[in-house]
Amino acid sequence: MVTLKTADEISLMEYAGEVVAEVLNILKERTKPGMSTYDLEEITLEIMRKRNVKPAFKGYQGYPAALCVSINEEVVHGIPSKNRVINEGDLVSVDTGTIYKGFFGDGAISYIVGKPEDPRKEELLKVTEKARDIGISKALVGNRIGDIGNAIQTYVESHNMSVIKDFVGHGIGRQLHESPQVPNFGEKDKGIELREGMTIAIEPMVSLGSYEVEIEENNWTVVTRDRSCAAHFEHTIAINKDGPRILTHLPL
Ligand code: MF3
Ligand code: CO
Repeated sequence: MVTLKTADEISLMEYAGEVVAEVLNILKERTKPGMSTYDLEEITLEIMRKRNVKPAFKGYQGYPAALCVSINEEVVHGIPSKNRVINEGDLVSVDTGTIYKGFFGDGAISYIVGKPEDPRKEELLKVTEKARDIGISKALVGNRIGDIGNAIQTYVESHNMSVIKDFVGHGIGRQLHESPQVPNFGEKDKGIELREGMTIAIEPMVSLGSYEVEIEENNWTVVTRDRSCAAHFEHTIAINKDGPRILTHLPL
């Protein structure tokens, strides 16, 4: 069931979203070669504590951390570990969620650590971020879910990259994952109609190679089957009659 949110509920989601944006920005600033992915988990927990929100991912279907850190061929759901060291030139995707007064925010960004040396990785970042923003631009009252996915897929494939199909965006609000699913592929004019007060997470995952993925031994981490590099950008947004409102942004 798709639930619509009131303006007050969306304000609570906006606070949850602000803290998500703050975490992701600080992680991007502070990630340096030689750090472990667990160092990023600790920074995340510290900010969430200070800003008075709960981590949304920790304990979600048994997930053990507040943050997902996925490197290079890892697409999503990399589990922070003291043994996993981040290297110069790695493409790192960080994904996190928060809960404030019962309402959720969810967002992700990808970036290169240290000196970028691989132009294809930089292109992947640009295309994935822009794919998210193109998807958001279709999140208009009266459009359908398929309009979002179709725009994302068309843009990504025009750059000779692939959208991951096994993982999708989602409704969000009182739960991390609500109806509807928001795929990063599909057909125009298909799927449910978008209405004012719907809140969704739009999160393209894009690879430089094939869209096929597999799950690692830890039962969480998603990697591309061909081990090509992947990136992930996500915003939580509210559908508004004046256009999409991004909730996972920094406070103005
Ligand atoms: N951001 C991921 C997703 O959107 C959430 C990860 S699942 C978790 O939907 F288990 F890590 F929480
Ligand atoms: Co999400």
